[in-house]
Amino acid sequence: MYSEKVIDHFSNPRNVGEIENASGVGTVGNAKCGDIMRIYFDIDENQVIRDVKFKTFGCGAAVATSSMATELVKGKTVYEALEVTNKAVMEALDGLPPVKVHCSLLAEEAIHAALWDYAEKNNIVIEGLKKPVNDIAETLEEEEY
Ligand code: FES
Repeated sequence: MYSEKVIDHFSNPRNVGEIENASGVGTVGNAKCGDIMRIYFDIDENQVIRDVKFKTFGCGAAVATSSMATELVKGKTVYEALEVTNKAVMEALDGLPPVKVHCSLLAEEAIHAALWDYAEKNNIVIEGLKKPVNDIAETLEEEEY
């Protein structure tokens, strides 16, 4: 049911962790399954993502998609990262079962939420970026989960 790449990224996720004083942090949640994903970006002065880490409290597909998403955006500019859609993440993982598509959406939203946070912190506008609907940064602000 899962591709080898999904199993690999689930069993051996890349870029797990946190970044202190991150340039942007995005936290998103899916109300239905209750899964939560947080992505941290370290972005340099040329708007290149030089480091990225994630923490996911969710299903195996959510872990695998966040791991792959971090691999896909590392070293990219913020605009290139915007192109990393859930479809691109799924393709890179050789597909996901239909019931798990929403997990990859969480990865796309986490990237967008982290970029949104970066843009807000730096008072800039990233053309084409919208605040993700499942951005739960405000509700989690003071809580550590
Ligand atoms: Fe909800 Fe996978 S089941 S993120």
